Amino acid sequence: MKAFVVEKYGKDGVHAAEVPEPTVGDRDVLVRVSAASINPLDKLVRNGEFKQILKYKLPFVLGHDVAGVVTRVGSAVHGLNVGDEVYARPRDLRVGGFAEFIAIDMDDVAPKPASLTLQEAAAVPLVALAAWQVLVDRAQVKPGQKVLIHAGAGGLGSTVIQLAKHLGATVATTTDTDTEKLVRSLGADVVVDYTKEDFSKVLSGYDLVLDALGGANLEKSLTVLKPGGLAISVVGPPDAGFAKQLGAPSFLGLVMNVLSRKVRKQAKALGVRYQFLFMQANGSQLRKLGALYDSGKLRPVIDRTFPFDRTLEAMAHVEQGRTKAGKVVVSMVPDND
Ligand SMILES: NC(=O)c1ccc[n+]([C@@H]2O[C@H](COP(=O)([O-])OP(=O)(O)OC[C@H]3O[C@@H](n4cnc5c(N)ncnc54)[C@H](OP(=O)(O)O)[C@@H]3O)[C@@H](O)[C@H]2O)c1
Repeated sequence: MKAFVVEKYGKDGVHAAEVPEPTVGDRDVLVRVSAASINPLDKLVRNGEFKQILKYKLPFVLGHDVAGVVTRVGSAVHGLNVGDEVYARPRDLRVGGFAEFIAIDMDDVAPKPASLTLQEAAAVPLVALAAWQVLVDRAQVKPGQKVLIHAGAGGLGSTVIQLAKHLGATVATTTDTDTEKLVRSLGADVVVDYTKEDFSKVLSGYDLVLDALGGANLEKSLTVLKPGGLAISVVGPPDAGFAKQLGAPSFLGLVMNVLSRKVRKQAKALGVRYQFLFMQANGSQLRKLGALYDSGKLRPVIDRTFPFDRTLEAMAHVEQGRTKAGKVVVSMVPDND
């Protein structure tokens, strides 16, 4: 089958290749990929930035989000059948959506939301799961709480805004002038144009901040929280909770605590909290999210669709910051792009 394979770590390390079809384990479904989507994580994994903790065996197929049709099921699979249209963010170390087929553990897969096309569904899993895990699992956002979501026009931010609104939060977001209208249409109540204004000068009393930028942005984010408020970063620095999630040896927890010591100390001095979050595959959460897409509470935001053969171009489009808003999809169905 055709696939985009990481042969060595680095910018030029991924190539189109002919590879064997994946083997299908007892708990796996084999999915004929109809569409996949690009995430910044693809670049990080390709560059080997996670190789100390995500120990991929080279060569491997890249791609963290897929939608497609089940063509085979393992002997232990239940609840999913040949012919089902599904979507998934396959678990780490078993990614590989930039390919004609992928074998995915049944626990990571859910039926595609009926109201979405396969191309739209491919844009959803990673960012929607991250949104759920930030707002529902971690922060347990309640109606009336104030939530600041950075980079509201991005693939992640555009999803988190909508879910936070659905949960009843008052939502502020940072974005640039061109995308202000879009983020308002997604439900943002307060929009700070980061090219004109410093959010930390105009926002205060927030229960939760989602940081997707890191560095100074994260440090300033701590100052807009109310006492006891929570800052969650999805870009780091990692904390000991992440090492635990990975099941890593305890020394790695210590290392991660050292990496986040400065920001945790700053948070403590301000009477607020800091946590890192790295989303995880989860088919049952994708089922719940699918219902929200089907009821119109959430909608995917898609910047552009590329044909599968141009996956490297699609990756470059995201990497070079050329997306105006939302996600970039690659489709097996030829597009007029
Ligand atoms: N840990 C996790 O589980 C997890 C999950 C999902 C994403 N992430 C990470 O979160 C980050 C965002 O992901 P994504 O999928 O949303 O990426 P994306 O689609 O590329 O979006 C990034 C967005 O950031 C905006 N931006 C850049 N500088 C900004 C600033 N100073 N203030 C506000 N917005 C700014 C960009 O807008 P412009 O067009 O104005 O530049 C763009 O809309 C990535 O680093 C990704 O790796 C982590």
